[in-house]
Amino acid sequence: MNLQNGKQIFKNALKGKYGVGAFNFINIETLKSILEAAEESKSPVIVQCSTGAIKYAGVDILVAIAKTYASHMTVPVCLNLDHGKTFEDCKTCIDAGFTNVMIDASSLPYDENIALTRKVVEYAHKHDVTVEAEIGVLAGVEDEVSATEDQARYTDPKQAYDFVKATGVDSLAIAIGTSHGTVKFKGEPKLRIDILEQVEKLMPDMPIVLHGASSIPQDMVKLAEQYGAVLPGSIGIPEAMLREACSHNVCKVNVDSDLRLSFTAGVRKSLAENPENVDMRKYNTAGMDLIKSVVKNKMENVFGSANRA
Ligand code: G3H
Ligand code: 13P
Ligand code: ZN
Repeated sequence: MNLQNGKQIFKNALKGKYGVGAFNFINIETLKSILEAAEESKSPVIVQCSTGAIKYAGVDILVAIAKTYASHMTVPVCLNLDHGKTFEDCKTCIDAGFTNVMIDASSLPYDENIALTRKVVEYAHKHDVTVEAEIGVLAGVEDEVSATEDQARYTDPKQAYDFVKATGVDSLAIAIGTSHGTVKFKGEPKLRIDILEQVEKLMPDMPIVLHGASSIPQDMVKLAEQYGAVLPGSIGIPEAMLREACSHNVCKVNVDSDLRLSFTAGVRKSLAENPENVDMRKYNTAGMDLIKSVVKNKMENVFGSANRA
């Protein structure tokens, strides 16, 4: 299949009350693992690249591999720019063949967020590309995305409503207590489902996006640590909370850290157990197998997107 924009994928997800996983990739290994999991689970899927991933691999290369793999698949695949910061970030990706872009101007003053988001929407829609924007700020630090816990703000539902009307975005990321990275909570995990419910009431047809939605599976943390990783305080969003969020209007669930963690655990184990091996394909495959099992579990047991393609 050709790469698809978000329109039909989100429409189906809203109607079916399930979430579609949006998984970050940086190379063939990550992309192939995600897409094999989607194909085997018969699940629609969003694959996405951060600006950091684009610097690492090159925009044309990432589009080319996504297009080529998608053409061998039967399930719908959408290619998203994750956390575009500027109009140029988004334009570059739209021109290169991305089918959805996120403009993340959430740390700018509200009026500037609206103005920049509108500009991206205008350009993207002319090219049949759908747009995600964000209102509210998540805590957490990852390469090019960062906010301290103090800077993080929950989304105000009324402001979210006004923002959607003013910008014409196709999906909206909101802040309800998730955060980027492997350490998401100091104490008990807590999500503000009440905010999600208010947003849903005000905009029943608006696809909502949850960033920072990795669960940080503890078996993967243990496995990585058993083979030398040091990951103190690693804790994610409990699967039950994600299930609940997907039963509301959450249509896109962003996951990166779980993939990094599982790949690292698999590679570490393989290298430790096969010290004589210098064939990268062997340890990469060990990492890819774990990414694949983590992604399949989400599609089949958490987001509810399996057998929906
Ligand atoms: O939300 C951020 C993603 O996990 C991307 O992270 O900028 O380190 O590639 P990155
Ligand atoms: P995690 O760090 O929870 O995987 O979040 C990834 C994300 O939000 C990408 O945009
Ligand atoms: Zn994010």
